[in-house]
Amino acid sequence: MTALLLLASLASVLAEDQVPLTAPTDIWTTLSTRFGDRAVKAAPFAEPCFTNITSPECLSVQELYQNEKTRTAQASGYTWGQWETCQKTGAQCLLDFAVPTDPAAASAPNTCERGSIPDYFIDVRGPEDVIGAFEFSKETGIPLVVKNTGHDFKGRSSGRNSVALWTHNLKDISYDPAFVAEGCTDAYPGVTAAAGVQFFEAFQFAEEHNITLVGGSDATVGLTGGFTMGGGHGVLSPVLGLGVDRVLQYKIVTPDGKYRTANACQNEDLFFALRGGGGGTFGVVLEATILAGPAAPVQVLVLTWPPTARSPARTEALWSLISEHMIEWADAGWGGYTMPELALFVTQRLSKEEAEKSMAPLLAFGESLKAEGVEGAMAMTMEFPSFLPFFQSFMTDAGGNAGAGKVGYSVSLTSRLVRRSSFATAASRKELVDALMAASGLPAPDAPLMIIQITGPTATRAGDLAPGRTSVTPAWRDAVYHVTSMGMWNWNATKEDITGVYDRTSRLMDHVRKVTPDSGAYLNEADVYEPNHEVSFWGDHYPELATIKMKYDPDRLLDCWQCVGWNPDSERYACYL
Ligand SMILES: Cc1cc2nc3c(=O)[nH]c(=O)nc-3n(C[C@H](O)[C@H](O)[C@H](O)COP(=O)(O)OP(=O)(O)OC[C@H]3O[C@@H](n4cnc5c(N)ncnc54)[C@H](O)[C@@H]3O)c2cc1C
Ligand SMILES: *[C@@H]1O[C@H](CO)[C@@H](O)[C@H](O)[C@H]1NC(C)=O
Ligand SMILES: *[C@@H]1O[C@H](CO)[C@@H](O)[C@H](O)[C@H]1NC(C)=O
Ligand SMILES: *[C@@H]1O[C@H](CO)[C@@H](O)[C@H](O)[C@H]1NC(C)=O
Repeated sequence: MTALLLLASLASVLAEDQVPLTAPTDIWTTLSTRFGDRAVKAAPFAEPCFTNITSPECLSVQELYQNEKTRTAQASGYTWGQWETCQKTGAQCLLDFAVPTDPAAASAPNTCERGSIPDYFIDVRGPEDVIGAFEFSKETGIPLVVKNTGHDFKGRSSGRNSVALWTHNLKDISYDPAFVAEGCTDAYPGVTAAAGVQFFEAFQFAEEHNITLVGGSDATVGLTGGFTMGGGHGVLSPVLGLGVDRVLQYKIVTPDGKYRTANACQNEDLFFALRGGGGGTFGVVLEATILAGPAAPVQVLVLTWPPTARSPARTEALWSLISEHMIEWADAGWGGYTMPELALFVTQRLSKEEAEKSMAPLLAFGESLKAEGVEGAMAMTMEFPSFLPFFQSFMTDAGGNAGAGKVGYSVSLTSRLVRRSSFATAASRKELVDALMAASGLPAPDAPLMIIQITGPTATRAGDLAPGRTSVTPAWRDAVYHVTSMGMWNWNATKEDITGVYDRTSRLMDHVRKVTPDSGAYLNEADVYEPNHEVSFWGDHYPELATIKMKYDPDRLLDCWQCVGWNPDSERYACYL
């Protein structure tokens, strides 16, 4: 090794490991001097209850504890309890999720600890804030985190002893029916949304402008943050593609301090990496322009029976029936979800009459349930004039307080993509349904919450998509199912309980992994401890992504759990189990 190289590698070792952390008062002084009132100190959501459990501030926290809209509007608010805690040490500041008014969690000897909540947040208002934060991190060695809504399932938007760039207040959104990406020539209808825009805002905007945007099932996830950079799927994805398929342009500050435009005509390598490589890795996105689809009526099939009539045999019959027709439905543009007592199918591609005809087998299944006397069973088709009224009827409302919209507990998610080949023959379908039944954990009363998301890009047409390459795992390209399953725990679970829930949900998904050896998983909704994660999330794109990471972030100023080019030995991960 030449002396020069030796010196360079020594310098990088020093830069990574030996920069002394400044005292907290210095950090705060520096941040507030440089960023003014955009520098914010951490304030755990439940803290007022640890201060005074009968105060009006605490009563308000108790009332809104499970409300995701409230949580996502606060710098220190996270969707899933555990990412506010330090799982390794048990340091936390949580209430009882099930009964937030239960005083036990906030009473002595429990104290309010910051856990994994970053010490400070910078309320980002423009590229200069991000450039300044990268300089600050490089000078001090203090880790940076990027936080948008705090929805992340893998803790990638929190981190102990860090400073977070908080993008929530970047809310601009506009529509240009003939948007031309900088340096390109072709025009597309494009919505330019700043990094803090959330789906409830984006869907409302789309409705007002008579267009359609691909989004997820949840009103408060961000449109252009982790969702789009990681893949982004929704019920319209079979026809309109994944979120990444519709990005026309990103504006981003890369860790070298440059504000860049990435699209199909410039910084193409970065553009490729940002379309599936994952959030929090290649820089901080300030805005994205997304290809808008035409507005169209939404056809819906809903088949359901009450959980009181739960029966594994009935679920198996439903999932077998769906698997028989699935390829035909996927090609016709149907997306949706199925759960042990639910099938919800959605498309904008068919007329009401075509939809009824196509879904006849499920309507007949519903009739057979009624004939059997299953109380509360129903199956029907419906038509909505556009996406927003469908979303408001079936998905989490922006109030975030109904049904699935409840958040604030702790979860272990796991998932697997199921490709077309699994549906090819009667034998492969049986193998798949058997694996799904085993993975469901039914009939155990504490079976995890299983949702088979039928959101792969199965019926997309090239002309419907934005130009340029994407970096999601190739398994997404012919995925029909994205199978997810979720275990949960409350504030007083022990470390052993928590490890047990993580292990159990992951082991159940092994049944599906075993029958889909050549597939992968969706990185935004994957196991925290995803086996062989590079291959699982990115397939053969990984080496190229790792090269792009090193090009734009050689000092690894950004680093997150199982992200491209991560350093698993970093102190950042001291709170993971
Ligand atoms: C209730 C619920 C429902 C969901 N439904 C769906 C669904 O239907 N379809 C789907 O595809 N996904 C879904 N998700 C998963 C969701 O896409 C991920 O949680 C995603 O990471 C959220 O991104 P965020 O920016 O809103 O959240 P955050 O937790 O704030 O950020 C997530 C990651 O992106 C990074 N990041 C955020 N903003 C930026 C930025 N501007 N620049 C650089 N990095 C950034 C963060 O550092 C972090 O790594 C759901 C999640 C939840 C909790
Ligand atoms: C707690 O809040 C209640 C209601 O505002 C108030 O009456 C009480 O004095 C407070 N207790 C303390 C110790 O501050
Ligand atoms: C909305 O868009 C659709 C599809 O492009 C079009 O057919 C319809 O006329 C538009 N409606 C209005 C009110 O502009
Ligand atoms: C956790 O607390 C709840 C109520 O606060 C209680 O019902 C439950 O038994 C406790 N669980 C454990 C594991 O201590």
